Amino acid sequence: MRDIKVSLVGYGIVGHGVVDVFNRKKKMLRDMGLNLKLVSVTDHTGTVVSENGVDAEKILGERTLANVATSSMKGKEAISAIDSDLVVEVTPTNIVHGQPGLGHMEAALSSGKHVVTSNKGPLVVSYSRLKKLAEDNGVMMKFEATVGGTMPLISLVERTLVGNTILGIRGIFNGTCNYILTRMTEEGIPYTHALSEAQDLGIAEADPSYDVEGVDTAGKVVILANSLFNMNTKYSDVDVTGITGVTPEALALAKKRGYAIKLIGNVPALTVRPTLVPLGSPIAVSGTLNSAAIYTDLSGTITVTGLGAGSIETASAILTDIVSIYRTKRIDAIF
Ligand SMILES: NC(=O)c1ccc[n+]([C@@H]2O[C@H](COP(=O)([O-])OP(=O)(O)OC[C@H]3O[C@@H](n4cnc5c(N)ncnc54)[C@H](OP(=O)(O)O)[C@@H]3O)[C@@H](O)[C@H]2O)c1
Repeated sequence: MRDIKVSLVGYGIVGHGVVDVFNRKKKMLRDMGLNLKLVSVTDHTGTVVSENGVDAEKILGERTLANVATSSMKGKEAISAIDSDLVVEVTPTNIVHGQPGLGHMEAALSSGKHVVTSNKGPLVVSYSRLKKLAEDNGVMMKFEATVGGTMPLISLVERTLVGNTILGIRGIFNGTCNYILTRMTEEGIPYTHALSEAQDLGIAEADPSYDVEGVDTAGKVVILANSLFNMNTKYSDVDVTGITGVTPEALALAKKRGYAIKLIGNVPALTVRPTLVPLGSPIAVSGTLNSAAIYTDLSGTITVTGLGAGSIETASAILTDIVSIYRTKRIDAIF
């Protein structure tokens, strides 16, 4: 049995999902030979530390750690001081400066700890530097959850489609925009009505600009371009148009001609824009779903769809990344 000491940084929607999923899957992981021990959980209020594993039942009912923290350590200090093998980084995304996640990931990688994250910001701002830091320290950085949530895309390309040349990837990478466009098409309602509906349902933020202006999708395009296409792309290289100018009339006309209008991110073209997609196309999914068509030289086009967000769903992608790190290490040891 292999003991893996995990530190979790960020205890919001995804952080709670990670604690829950680790707890639910304890036995399954043990059966695989992995004893995942959550030795610390940190948020902006402090840290819960336990060498023997943080008691999930004790903290899952708490929105923040304010009432249960056993240490006042935060952020980088906690990452460096606590004895762990792997850091799960799930603090809020900032794609301008990448903080606080960028500092957390640098601290983890430079002290020889693997990093698994759902946080786009640090990767958009500093992918190649973080990758080099991981390589220099002999550890891995995994980030499946940053693009398409639980939808397997990065691991599918890196592992399952290995041997193929990837010619391009295009798809729907933002569930909020897809929900709004779907509702505008179904009900013939204007953008502002569909947006308020999404806000009432908790699908859109009070300030939705990050999603509807295409910023979130463009961040994902940068991550895919840098990680899967070996490009050295910045956010400013992406040509971005959001969905605020899409009208119910345009959607109705498109539908009459057999098309949907979807916010499509395209790599390596580095574009994000409302795009006509044939109604029968496998990427023309509805509601909050995400989708991606992967164009390859040997396998033709592979399409995946799935939930792009959600507490447990995102935690599932994080768990998959963690398991894949230890499986890869086992294969390395054989060769
Ligand atoms: N939610 C999803 O479905 C989803 C899906 C895919 C990717 N993601 C990404 O995953 C990350 C987490 O998302 P989320 O929805 O869980 O966000 P969230 O609910 O806002 O949670 C973020 C957590 O990080 C904490 N935090 C903020 N600054 C911190 C610091 N300096 N040190 C330690 N903790 C700090 C926050 O505390 P306070 O709230 O008290 O400040 C909160 O506990 C984001 O980068 C997001 O873009 C989310």
